[in-house]
Amino acid sequence: MASTNEERIGELEAMRAEALLGGGRARIEQQHARGKLTARERLDLLLDAESFVELDAFVTSRSSTTGGERERYLGDGVVTGHGTIDGRLVFVFSQDFTVFGGSLSEAYAAKICKVMDLAMKVGAPVVGLNDSGGARIQEGVVSLGGYADIFLRNTLASGVVPQISVVMGPCAGGAVYSPAITDFTIMVQGTSYMFVTGPNVVKAVTHEDVSAERLGGATTHATTSGVAHLAAVDEAEALASARRLLAYLPQNNLEEPPSIDSQDPAGRMDADLDDVVPDDPRRPYDMHDVIRRIVDDAAFLEIQPAWASNVICGFSRLGGRAVGIVAQQPAVLAGALDIDASTKAARFVRTCDCFNVPLLTLVDVPGSCPALVRSTGIIRHGAKLLFAYCEATVPKLTVITRKAYGGAYDVMSSKHVRGDMNFAWPTAEVAVMGAEGAVNILHRDRLAAAEDPATERRRLVAEYEREFANPWIAAGRGYVDDVIRPRETRPRLIAALAMLATKRDTNPRKKHGNIPL
Ligand code: HXC
Repeated sequence: MASTNEERIGELEAMRAEALLGGGRARIEQQHARGKLTARERLDLLLDAESFVELDAFVTSRSSTTGGERERYLGDGVVTGHGTIDGRLVFVFSQDFTVFGGSLSEAYAAKICKVMDLAMKVGAPVVGLNDSGGARIQEGVVSLGGYADIFLRNTLASGVVPQISVVMGPCAGGAVYSPAITDFTIMVQGTSYMFVTGPNVVKAVTHEDVSAERLGGATTHATTSGVAHLAAVDEAEALASARRLLAYLPQNNLEEPPSIDSQDPAGRMDADLDDVVPDDPRRPYDMHDVIRRIVDDAAFLEIQPAWASNVICGFSRLGGRAVGIVAQQPAVLAGALDIDASTKAARFVRTCDCFNVPLLTLVDVPGSCPALVRSTGIIRHGAKLLFAYCEATVPKLTVITRKAYGGAYDVMSSKHVRGDMNFAWPTAEVAVMGAEGAVNILHRDRLAAAEDPATERRRLVAEYEREFANPWIAAGRGYVDDVIRPRETRPRLIAALAMLATKRDTNPRKKHGNIPL
């Protein structure tokens, strides 16, 4: 006899209850014992309450070698669907370590591809929560194909919808490349790691003893490799970071980032800014202090704070409008541009540009690190930042607080590379190089012949500083639009941003530019 409707509905409910358990209660307990949340608990923290809509809960492995019916799990190791964050649509996948260690199968990859395709059609971000032993060994090459299907979609979606990867467990082998292609990678300290090959293989190949944490833990990637944009102390913080990031980004490349009603007055001036730059040009100061005093409510979401910290990158708001800030940090390596700083800032500039986030650049740069020029390729890497600023068409605001020397003056969102509104503080020094270096080159003979070289050098340095180390030559040419009192910076930037709100600029049509990589 055919089943009754009631029986069929009962079957649905039983199946759904089974799907909710993933790999089963025992494995859920193991996951908790490892200090990790389950795939579903993570989605609950990431998304607005009750907003999650699941897809493909009844998908199972297509493999005949995965251990038979007993080892067939509803959902097949990844929870996918959509929900909202602050009321805005977002597509999600959350890898479930309780099913074959979250390893990726053919069906699992197809589930991820389905939500990515939907995200591209409707124009909404994708957030992926990664916790996986990599390719499902039993499925062999089919699993590798599944990865490639995801990598392709990550690449095609790049610059169209924001993509955020949160790494919350293992992420090994080629699996690391999906997060690496996405816009932001967030890791959890102590429980997540990313490496191309694990400590055992490293030991076999190089005879080096290295822990998983040192090889690919959150601290390594947040401080040494630059792979992680943010490292969170726990899973809740990592998921909260993903939410915060999305608040600064539009849903897709055709939209503007969301603005909010800021309670911080647009006209607020901070008198202490007038004294931030020390009288002695060799003394550092903390550019974070400048940023906090300028932006709305001192709120700043710094990206890659512990890597290449001679340059500061991050999101903030001015008069409620989202901005991406790139700033030198005079307190680290005198704010010089080295390889990592150039790469970090270039990537951030491009991230902002592709998602229509205006750029604010705060300049205090003595130049590139000279000692490294020949040996390590600053030319190739420094060119990335130059290229990124040149091609960026979002509103570009620049404030030169102190040094803007040499090529670094050109690079850092100068008027010549389409800076829209460029301000200088009276403390600005826009010149080919610093006074000491210039005097050495220009007056070598005179110094050698001087009776008292030290006094002569001081005199020449003072003369150079008077003549060149100031904002007036640049202002006289219109290379800066205005020289402003530091305390006026916030109101002037907010006014400039409002004026530029309808800015439209384009680059020549082409397949794509050839950024030096
Ligand atoms: C199938 C896997 C698996 C995998 C783990 N499991 N990884 N099953 N395929 N890749 C299963 C385990 O057999 C185990 O099942 C359960 O998941 C939990 O794993 P454990 O080893 O008990 O957990 P733990 O001690 O925490 O170690 C986690 C781990 C380890 C570090 C991820 O499992 C591991 O090293 N796995 C293999 C990682 C790997 O080399 N993957 C391939 C990378 S190459 P039971 O039933 O015993 O509980 C790759 C290519 C991608 O991914 C290419 C893309 C281009």
